[in-house]
Parts: sequence; C-alpha cells; structure tokens
Amino acid sequence: MSVKVTYLGHSAFAVEHEQTRVLIDPFLTGNPLAEKAGIKADAQQATAIVLTHGHGDHLGDTVPLAKRTGATVFCSWEIHEYLREQGIEHTEPGNPGGRIAAPWGWVAFTQAFHSSSLGGRYLGQPMGAVVHLGGKTVYHCGDTGLFSDMKLLGEIYKPDVAMVPIGDRFTMGPELATRAAEFIAAPIVIPVHYKTFGLLRQDTAGFVPRGVTVRELAPGEGLTLE
Ligand code: NI
Ligand code: MN
Repeated sequence: MSVKVTYLGHSAFAVEHEQTRVLIDPFLTGNPLAEKAGIKADAQQATAIVLTHGHGDHLGDTVPLAKRTGATVFCSWEIHEYLREQGIEHTEPGNPGGRIAAPWGWVAFTQAFHSSSLGGRYLGQPMGAVVHLGGKTVYHCGDTGLFSDMKLLGEIYKPDVAMVPIGDRFTMGPELATRAAEFIAAPIVIPVHYKTFGLLRQDTAGFVPRGVTVRELAPGEGLTLE
C-alpha cells in the first residue's frame, strides 16, 4: 500500500500509488524551482490533476498536460468551465465541503482564504484539496491564511501528510503556518510556497510546529508512505 509523494517545486506535487499518478497544482513551466531541478511538464505522466485555485502558479501547465495525458482535472466549477473552453474533456468540478469519488480513491475540497482568478477572470473559490489513494491521505492546503477549522479538517480527514504554505505575503508565513500544522496535526508536514520568487520567504526559519515532523523537500525529492 505504499504511496510516494514527490515535491515538484513551489506548490506542485505528484502523489503516486501503483499505476495511478495524481498531480497537484502542476506549475512547472516558468517555475524556477522545477526548472532548476530539470522537472519538465512534457515529461510528466498523470492519471488526474487536482487544482486548488486558478492562479497561474497553480493552474500552471494543466491545459497541455491534460490534453496530452487525458488526465481528469478536479477543480472548482469555474475552472472546470474555463478548461472546457480550452478543449479539456475530462473534468470533475467541485466546491468546498464536497467529496468526489475517483476510480483510484477520492478528492475532497476544503475552504481556503485566498483569491482565484486568471487574467482578470474569476475562477471560483480558492480551496484546499484532500487526496486519498492507496490507503493514504494527503491534505494540500492550497494558498491560504490561517483558520481554526484546520483542526476540524485534521480530525475529519486524518491526513498522513499535510502540505502547508509558509512563504508569507500571499499565504501564511512561518509563524501562522506553525499554528496551521499544529491544528492539522498530520504526522508529517511539508512546507510549500516559499523560496520560488523574491517576494516569498526564502527559508523555513520560524516554521517549528510541535509534535509534527517537518520534511523540507528539495524539488524532485520525495517521501514514501508505507
Ligand atoms: Ni494563489
Ligand atoms: Mn500561489
């Protein structure tokens, strides 16, 4: 039942179990961390793509990736409408609070405190995403500020891993992300959304959640959940 979680830089991940490969927020082209690590969009395989919101640093390479691989895209209703206009046929729209079954597991969307648009077009609610496959659960918070219901979400979904943004300015910084990781209380937390651009925090100093193992992954690096 092993599941591999690989960090692709910024907020992007691959979550894999057997033949299923789920990409979360696949922003690779133009992502300095991914490019430096030699991670290329056209080399990625995907069964599904899960999007937290429509900002370019999360929607990223979704359109060409979905077209080439035929991956089903799990996203907000408004992103689904946008992707259909771009010729993407396989989409699973949702909104916060909902859970969507997949042949390989399920995706549940949570709230996130942020915005979601592309080129001035409104793209629905920003969200966090809980992805379950291979008997494991990961909670990707998306871009968000702190909210105390993270504790409830942790109790409900019992994630094995949480991806928490720590880069400040557009999301939580390290101090608030520390509180978030303690609320969620997943045994492992991976800091994300930092170091990519000059406007973001460049290190994890101050991200010190108690009772949680912090795994700072280099782009391309992964961890295996047994
Ligand atoms: Ni954003
Ligand atoms: Mn972002």
